Amino acid sequence: MKIIVVGSGGREHAIIKKLLENPDVETIYALPGNGGIAADAQCVPIGVKDIPAIAAFAQTHAIDFAVVASDDPLGLGAVDALNAVGIPCFGPDQKAAQIECSKVFSKNLMKKYNIPTASYAVFDNADDAIAYIHRVGAPIVVKADGLALGKGATVAMTVEQAEAAVHAAMVDRVFGDSGNRVVIEEYMTGPEVSVLAFCDGETLVPMVSSMDHKRALDGDAGPNTGGMGTIAPNPYYTPEIAAQCMETIFLPTVRAMQAEGRPFRGCLYFGLMLTPNGPKVIEYNCRFGDPETQVVLPLLESDLLTIMQACANTTLAQTPVKFSDKAACCVILASDGYPTQYASGFPITIPQNLDAQVYIAGAKREADTLLSAGGRVLGVSCTGATLREAIDRAYAAAAQVHFENAYYRRDIGRRALECEGEF
Ligand code: AMP
Ligand code: GLY
Repeated sequence: MKIIVVGSGGREHAIIKKLLENPDVETIYALPGNGGIAADAQCVPIGVKDIPAIAAFAQTHAIDFAVVASDDPLGLGAVDALNAVGIPCFGPDQKAAQIECSKVFSKNLMKKYNIPTASYAVFDNADDAIAYIHRVGAPIVVKADGLALGKGATVAMTVEQAEAAVHAAMVDRVFGDSGNRVVIEEYMTGPEVSVLAFCDGETLVPMVSSMDHKRALDGDAGPNTGGMGTIAPNPYYTPEIAAQCMETIFLPTVRAMQAEGRPFRGCLYFGLMLTPNGPKVIEYNCRFGDPETQVVLPLLESDLLTIMQACANTTLAQTPVKFSDKAACCVILASDGYPTQYASGFPITIPQNLDAQVYIAGAKREADTLLSAGGRVLGVSCTGATLREAIDRAYAAAAQVHFENAYYRRDIGRRALECEGEF
């Protein structure tokens, strides 16, 4: 089989490595991939937003299956375009991808179908938004409606911060058209859990839960990033809470999308907060999380390609999906200064026999050398019989990977260990 994977980060590298475990997979093309992914797939220099070129490539290369992994092409209709030329895909079509691409759409969906989430109001001009903020006060959360590289949400502890966030989105237009509308929502508290789920439009199968670490610095300080590390499973997510989420959030969401004529096929990502009033949705994503994928897929024991095909064929209910009961930890090595200013272009050295999976996120290859190229450079991922063991192994391996100005958090998984009663 010949497969294309659309995307270029650590998540895509983890997906590609997992797909390669299936002996029927002959070739994987990564569009565009990166210098590290090039060790496992053929990288093709087609950008993720160039939908006509993606569809044309797939057609001329007689591709058997496509995995659209990143949000931009999903929002732009890559799956619709690939399906139109007869190529089966893992990923939602453009109508279903709205669940991530428009916060206003997702909030209205949750309200209509009684899916628990923060209460909210929507504004299309800054004056009304600011008047509302003055009326309800802080803390309060301001979110740009559209895609914003994970940077569209501001948790404002003061009215001034909330006003500044509205100003940035709607007047300075730092997110472009994504800030035409803003959602202003109630501030919630509680541990966060990520749950990724396979969906075929009708059936939903949750994967093992995980926990992201979004802030740049130890102790959850510093600015929000794309994610500095992950662990799985998330110990806050007990079997009781999982059952409650299935009943009040997961199944109602799948049914709601069906009822709206937007059946969701692909990976539906639930960003949850376990509030004192029960689990609530922070956000939906229409794709695998990054770096959640780098801990979830190493724990998947069933064949990924078979499951992805079942999601495309509406046969997920008859397809086994089994996860190991081990734990996993992924530590992200970033360029120091990420997410603001950083230098890159430094040679990366990874020991040949490193006892870990290394997923490359931002690197280019020059001659035979891999050079850092970007903020998040790579993820070092390990499994273990316990969370403690997975974390220790990931840190031991991370210490053996080098590039100038490498930076990583030292406390990935610490809150999870606290939840388990360590410390
Ligand atoms: P989002 O871009 O919607 O995933 O939000 C980014 C982060 O902001 C989340 O992971 C939460 O930590 C935080 N956040 C978002 N919405 C809320 C909320 N309503 N209350 C408290 N924190 C929130
Ligand atoms: N790790 C959060 C995301 O993928 O959006």
